[in-house]
Amino acid sequence: MFALPDAWRQVFSIISLPAAHSCPAAGAVPTNSSKPRLALVRGVPHTFSSCITMEKSEAAIDVELARKQHSDYVNILRGSLLVDHVVELSPMDEFPDCPFIEDTAVVIGSKALITRPGASLRRGEVEAVEAELRNLGFEIHNVEPPGTIDGGDVLYVQNTLFVGKSMRTNSRGIEALARAFSPIPVVPIDVAETLHLKSVLSPLGRNSFLAEETFHAKQMLELIRKASMDSCDCVFTPHQGAANLLWVGNTLVYPSAYPCGSDLAELYANSAERVIPANISEFHKGDGGLTCLSIVID
Ligand code: GLY
Repeated sequence: MFALPDAWRQVFSIISLPAAHSCPAAGAVPTNSSKPRLALVRGVPHTFSSCITMEKSEAAIDVELARKQHSDYVNILRGSLLVDHVVELSPMDEFPDCPFIEDTAVVIGSKALITRPGASLRRGEVEAVEAELRNLGFEIHNVEPPGTIDGGDVLYVQNTLFVGKSMRTNSRGIEALARAFSPIPVVPIDVAETLHLKSVLSPLGRNSFLAEETFHAKQMLELIRKASMDSCDCVFTPHQGAANLLWVGNTLVYPSAYPCGSDLAELYANSAERVIPANISEFHKGDGGLTCLSIVID
């Protein structure tokens, strides 16, 4: 558990989930010190302000600002040398959601599962991603109808695939994931009242999670804990969307559009070798978080 000043506790509540087993989802990402080989990203189309949203944001998406934020994000991956290589796919105006490239493929080792996105309007996004991954030499797997799965529902940590069963990902999609990456264990997690599993929780340091402070996010964490091998510490944020953190190697990228006082900054600093803020406010308006904007491949 982190040593936290009292002031911090006023903003976030903290629970330690006791269990007989360790929580495999928590430790693996932050402790992987090897630099990932590459990241795939996809730029912002002119139509981005028409992307799919669960609730219309009060403020409209500023597409030019989104472009600037996307470029800053790519510069974090490339310029901060978080990955060896960044592959940038061209945006397509037919697919307003195409910057959320995470949803289009799950890549582990030499294998890539090309998803069949749950939103039918997004299905055409996968073609260019499949072509790129094939070209890069990955063994390609596909999802047959009626299976659907979004990469935003897939959390791969400590050799376990936790996958959200959500409005976008169904049982057949989860079966396709299990087939593609057998023998990696797959643990389905029921996702309620949010878009994806990773919309509301993500690993934070060794054996810890940052999650939204909601009944449903807590339930999802409990399911992860039950399927796991140890206790995990959980830190909760009241800010919707703020719990999606991007880990690359030992670097933590956090969403700076949400309030982050000095106490939370200290917590981040204690969790990672390097901490980098990224403001992606325009992508939050489209229900996106930091992980949505890339496929990072170890
Ligand atoms: N706007 C992201 C999604 O709905 O998939």
